[in-house]
Amino acid sequence: MTGREETATTTGPADPDTSALEADLREGFFTDPPTVPPRWFYDEKGSLLFDDITRLDEYYPTRREAEILRARAEPIVGSSTTIVELGAGTCTKTRVLLDVMAGGADADSRSEARYVPVDISVEVLLDAARSLGEEYPGLEIEPVIADLTALDPPLPGEPGQRLVLFLGGTVGNFGEAQRTGFLRMMREVMAPGDRLVVGFDLVKDPARLVSAYDDAAGVTAEFNLNMLDVIARTVECTGLDRRDFRHEAVWNAGESRIEMWLRAVRDVRIDFPTLGRTRTLAAGEGIRTEIARKFHGDALIDELAGHGFSREALWADEGGDFGLALVVVD
Ligand code: AVI
Repeated sequence: MTGREETATTTGPADPDTSALEADLREGFFTDPPTVPPRWFYDEKGSLLFDDITRLDEYYPTRREAEILRARAEPIVGSSTTIVELGAGTCTKTRVLLDVMAGGADADSRSEARYVPVDISVEVLLDAARSLGEEYPGLEIEPVIADLTALDPPLPGEPGQRLVLFLGGTVGNFGEAQRTGFLRMMREVMAPGDRLVVGFDLVKDPARLVSAYDDAAGVTAEFNLNMLDVIARTVECTGLDRRDFRHEAVWNAGESRIEMWLRAVRDVRIDFPTLGRTRTLAAGEGIRTEIARKFHGDALIDELAGHGFSREALWADEGGDFGLALVVVD
């Protein structure tokens, strides 16, 4: 929505996004502080902006993780016959591993090689699967459209031969309880011998962390503000206007996380007729749109051990910015 005091409704109540967002707003928007889950960043524009973020000088995680994947591709793939990638998106991160699976040292001993990209975004996933199919003719590609926090067992592939990837540091976007629930679910859908790789960002100088989420060109600011447009377009509301907010990224040392906020620059009153609710924000109050938890060295792999995953390897990039944990189901 761009105009003030107008109702911007382009979707009907039966639209699944509308009901999902309404449920999320009911749960988090009328609490203190108001929160909206980060999944609402990713409409088409938001997904493109996120791609831009990954190329920013300030945003190191994507490059650092790619560095580790390049250096460790062989031991990561090992003798796995199926790679399942959670939140695969455009599948760009994974090519280095697919190259090993399709042509590495153990390639001939594999009677099957399967790639299972899992994502909630249908178009992006199917496009990526199509072009990967052309690039890797020997690879069986089985895209799965699913919410990665609610996977149904069994995962595709032979039990004990699967490699599950959860890359990009997305594990940091879960709250503490959500992360526990996710790891518990992963243990349930994976079989003994299956391996899991998790990419996670490491605690570092707060100034660097903040600039990774508040870049000089304002791309992350636009990414954050775009969420307001997504909300205003998806649910019926009045008084929600991006010009009333500014982007803010702060380091919360106590919780070891970056937080992204949309801070009201004047008093705001937002009405949601279909929810029968109103939210007021005084100037200076904010909506929290994302947390990005940063971990110390062993913390995440120790947590994985508590969920029935044994440590196989723990790597960081040369600069010590980003980590990759490789664990196996006991
Ligand atoms: C997707 N996720 C790992 C990103 C992160 O770094 O937490 C999302 C992001 N938000 C702002 N910049 C990037």
